[in-house]
Amino acid sequence: MVSTATRLGGFAFDNCLMNAAGVWCMTTEELEAVKDSAAGTFVTKTATLAYREGNPEPRYRNLPLGSINSMGLPNQGLDYYMDYLLELQGSEPERTFILSLVGLSPDETHEILKKVEASDFKGLIELNLSCPNVPGKPQIAYDFEATETILREVFSYFTKPLGIKLPPYFDIVHFDQATAIFNQFPIVFVNCVNSIGNGLYIEDEQVVIKPKGGFGGLGGEYIKPTALANVHAFYQRLKPEIQIVGTGGVLTGRDAFEHILCGASMVQIGTALQKEGPAIFERITAELQALMAEKGYETIEDFRGKLQTIRD
Ligand code: SIN
Repeated sequence: MVSTATRLGGFAFDNCLMNAAGVWCMTTEELEAVKDSAAGTFVTKTATLAYREGNPEPRYRNLPLGSINSMGLPNQGLDYYMDYLLELQGSEPERTFILSLVGLSPDETHEILKKVEASDFKGLIELNLSCPNVPGKPQIAYDFEATETILREVFSYFTKPLGIKLPPYFDIVHFDQATAIFNQFPIVFVNCVNSIGNGLYIEDEQVVIKPKGGFGGLGGEYIKPTALANVHAFYQRLKPEIQIVGTGGVLTGRDAFEHILCGASMVQIGTALQKEGPAIFERITAELQALMAEKGYETIEDFRGKLQTIRD
């Protein structure tokens, strides 16, 4: 019997597929739809301390090979997601869900995390260090000094299971430098990757989204090779206690298989979920199971991280 079950941060999930933060996770209605689909769990839209309207529309566009967005962290505010997650802890105590969050400043991030630390929330936390779309706020994880400082401060008081959402890196030296920082901390997972920030898509001599003069994060088919490279580079470098969540360009069971082959323990779906809706989890799970059966694999641990290179 082929199983796509997995473990992350010590928690068990009956499927390794789930949504990526930002897609089908803004409201409790959307989160319920993902929860009640074939997905193993859900992650919330990245929460800031207070409700945010986000950037002006149009701020998201599906493209032939993916998507471009500059949402600007619209969200309902931390309490909205926390209230729902605490309610679910009562009604579905056997399942674990993920809360994504970040502040608009280091102080706000600490305020949020201290609230989560003091709460009864027992799930996983994903700290988003990679949003490319808030005007005037650079992606935190591209500044290694700021990243190390914030992680050092966070882990001086935060004891719950915390992972980080990363932007794509493009240089081997950056994989090494980032790893040297992450390996110092009790991070439970790194999520590779957020969108490729600040792309530009043109139609009829005009950009297709309004914020930031049309610059926005790219998702979908455009980014799978970059996502796979980041998953595998961190899988090869991070201490074994830090697991990898693979995100980027997953449209089929084969794409999910490749993320797992590169080392991912969980696989998130963003743009394709936006295009297809939560029924996508059933389709991709069936495709992944069929591929595993064809190759004689019964669990994802049978092939996770076993990507082969070309030898002489
Ligand atoms: C956004 O809200 O702008 C997207 C979130 C992200 O890329 O982290």
